[in-house]
Amino acid sequence: MRTQVAIVGAGPAGLTLAHLLHLEGIDSVVLEARSREYVEQRVRAGVLEQGTVDLLSAMGVAERLHREGIVHHGIELRFDRRGYRIPLTDLTGRSITIYGQQEVVRDLIAARLDTERPLLFEVEDVSVHDVASDRPAVRFRYEGAAQELECDVIAGCDGFHGVCRDSIPAGVLTTYSREYPFGWLGILAAVAPSSDELIYASHERGFALHSLRSPDLSRLYLQCAPDEDLADWPDERIWEELHMRFELDGWALHEGPVLEKGVTGMRSFVVEPMQYGRLYLAGDAAHIVPPTGAKGLNLAVADVRVLAGGLVEWYATGDTALLETYSATCLKRAWRAEHFSYFMTHMLHRLDGDPFDAKLQRAQLEYVCSSEAAATSLAENYVGPAYVG
Ligand code: FAD
Ligand code: DHB
Repeated sequence: MRTQVAIVGAGPAGLTLAHLLHLEGIDSVVLEARSREYVEQRVRAGVLEQGTVDLLSAMGVAERLHREGIVHHGIELRFDRRGYRIPLTDLTGRSITIYGQQEVVRDLIAARLDTERPLLFEVEDVSVHDVASDRPAVRFRYEGAAQELECDVIAGCDGFHGVCRDSIPAGVLTTYSREYPFGWLGILAAVAPSSDELIYASHERGFALHSLRSPDLSRLYLQCAPDEDLADWPDERIWEELHMRFELDGWALHEGPVLEKGVTGMRSFVVEPMQYGRLYLAGDAAHIVPPTGAKGLNLAVADVRVLAGGLVEWYATGDTALLETYSATCLKRAWRAEHFSYFMTHMLHRLDGDPFDAKLQRAQLEYVCSSEAAATSLAENYVGPAYVG
């Protein structure tokens, strides 16, 4: 098999890249380890920056997003049994859209299948080869048979646990990381959202987040131990804990059947550079943020937008200038998101231990809820940068 761009991973990064390349007449093969059903049902992110929505719209894959996505103009920060609204749109002119990551993935898979270009699910034993040469290749097994895919370039869009990053020789990458001593327990519940907007609650029992997916689906998270055992969390205990953390006079949390439940660890992680030879890393393969800032999916899409631009220029003119700056361009945005996600995580979670840290945290919360300048800084990071060009 031969293609121009071999894309490993059919998450938001890989699928967006495949479609951006298709629109410019560039051929690719997308290889995905999981089944189509699995990736279309995996519940993850829900917040799309306006830049992400604008890009998906320009790509012609946002028809359902515009129909079913819910545009939000503010978020609430809740602490000390009081709620403070951060008016995102008033402060920045931009908004966010609530639309599940699996819906984005579903739309992109449908668009890919329409192009009749290859997207292979359930590939096994993927490995990348000769990336330091100008004839790289990906080897894998598909439907029981060994395959070799020759290409010009490999896009490593295979997420944090993928194989592409680890195939880069030791000593090339520098890793920066931070583990957090907590995780999130997330549920999807068949009940109308209890609020029109997202609520980020800081409570002495720990952080909680109220989000939604549709007029009848709520998405809720609560801070827990990183290795929390779900067996210790029957539905009644989850609701009881959520009630306590969101408590506010005159406000009630709606309960409903729990459809899905999971625990996510939290970490910050970046590798530099995001490229080695003909292998380009994008999305979670190159960087992870704690979910508090709602940035991971948006960063993944932003990376492949830059990568697609570089590849289009290279194929059209032979000029490698944009590909050479791929890593530096993406890392600039990634580090801004790393800082913001770290900031939100520290401001809102229960940090065990140092009372001095607890006082600083409180001072910061009061500042963003009382100063327009501080609220504007939070808002412009939350809605994400406006795309230029
Ligand atoms: P992934 O989505 O991980 O896709 C990688 C793909 O590669 C997967 O389909 C995987 O199966 C496949 N793969 C892995 N290994 C191989 C292999 N060897 N061969 C072939 N295929 C392989 N981000 C936000 O922006 N906003 C949010 O609100 C938000 N909330 C989140 C909430 C939770 C609970 C979690 C877990 C994450 C959240 N994120 C959020 C982060 C977001 O989900 C990720 O950043 C995003 O999925 C990254 O996309 P990606 O395409 O880089 O990687
Ligand atoms: C959701 C996830 C997040 O990480 C976040 O910060 C906001 C919302 C969500 O899944 O809806």
